[in-house]
Amino acid sequence: MQEKIALVPGSFDPVTFGHIDIIRRAAELYDRVYVAVMINAAKNYLFTLEQRKAIAEAAVGDIPNVTVIAFDGMLWELAKRLGACAIVKGYRNEKDLAYEKLMAEYNQEHYSDAETVLLHADQALAYISSTLVREKLAQEADLSDYLPKAGIEAIKKILHSQN
Ligand code: PNS
Repeated sequence: MQEKIALVPGSFDPVTFGHIDIIRRAAELYDRVYVAVMINAAKNYLFTLEQRKAIAEAAVGDIPNVTVIAFDGMLWELAKRLGACAIVKGYRNEKDLAYEKLMAEYNQEHYSDAETVLLHADQALAYISSTLVREKLAQEADLSDYLPKAGIEAIKKILHSQN
């Protein structure tokens, strides 16, 4: 039978336990999961595309059927290129859901072979956001509640290389 491939796209600036929960759940549902670090034209990023990829790679390296990639094009194009049958995203609240529905419609119009699958975020993790992590980072606060140790190490390595 053909491998079922899913794409978990996002900004991941940086990846958090909230994202990782969605990635793990997608990895249970599909044979292969590509975590695609991408560009949301509406956002200004703290980390570059390659840095966001490196942090995500460190943070999900223990999940065997997950591969992290970086892509600066359109999501529907990537889904088509990889032969993905699903685009998996998480939503925490009504605001997230409204935004995800618009993106799902856009991607469906351009590439209908990939179904958008929205997973409801674990509410215990819903308070975590990349914005909160960036705030904590600016305060030099402990990040261990927000992403795995390996991801924090990757962030430190990036920051040290910039100084
Ligand atoms: O984590 P985010 O910011 O919600 O992720 C949004 C992302 C990066 C998945 C989205 O902006 C995206 O798909 N960007 C790639 C370019 C694209 O396809 N844009 C059309 C989306 S309507």
